[in-house]
Amino acid sequence: MNDAQTPLISIKNLQKYFPIHGGVLYRRIGNVHAVDGVSFDVRKGETIGLVGESGCGKSTLGKALLHLHPPTGGTVEFEGVDLDTIPTQRLRELRKEMQMIFQDPMESLNPRMSVGSILEEPFIIHKGEHAFDTAEKRKTEILRILHEVGLPASAYDKYPHEFSG
Ligand SMILES: Nc1ncnc2c1ncn2[C@@H]1O[C@H](COP(=O)(O)OP(=O)(O)O)[C@@H](O)[C@H]1O
Ligand SMILES: [Mg+2]
Repeated sequence: MNDAQTPLISIKNLQKYFPIHGGVLYRRIGNVHAVDGVSFDVRKGETIGLVGESGCGKSTLGKALLHLHPPTGGTVEFEGVDLDTIPTQRLRELRKEMQMIFQDPMESLNPRMSVGSILEEPFIIHKGEHAFDTAEKRKTEILRILHEVGLPASAYDKYPHEFSG
């Protein structure tokens, strides 16, 4: 397969089971089959929608796909590379290219961090990969981003709870 044909992501028979404990000894008495045999490919530029009732396993699939949860079974390939076969350090680097954006802002944003510091964090984590190498340059860029998404500059110093959902 050449590069143009290799899917960006290819998952095969992905499974994630969670143990159910019970009884007086709190032993493992079964499993929740949160994700059970999911396969699909995503090509560059393609969008895939995953739809289903609450608790059907959408978030678990996302986490297993990123190996945030080790999958119970199946494989995940990112640009043709099986995530199971790569060293932790490389997986950490790949995580910069594969991200989960959580839907609920109240659950995913640190309530003690201002919007400015939340937005600055990725620039600090990815230092060396962009030109925003001083606090001043980062602030200018963050103000530009806020403007681009239609938020006022005053949002920079606000906290997540000060916004509506
Ligand atoms: N860390 C966990 N431990 C045990 N069970 C879990 C865990 N995370 C999710 N589950 C269970 O897995 C199933 C799928 O959950 P989830 O992936 O969050 O569904 P969705 O995102 O589609 O609402 C649910 O039954 C949920 O209770
Ligand atoms: Mg979910």
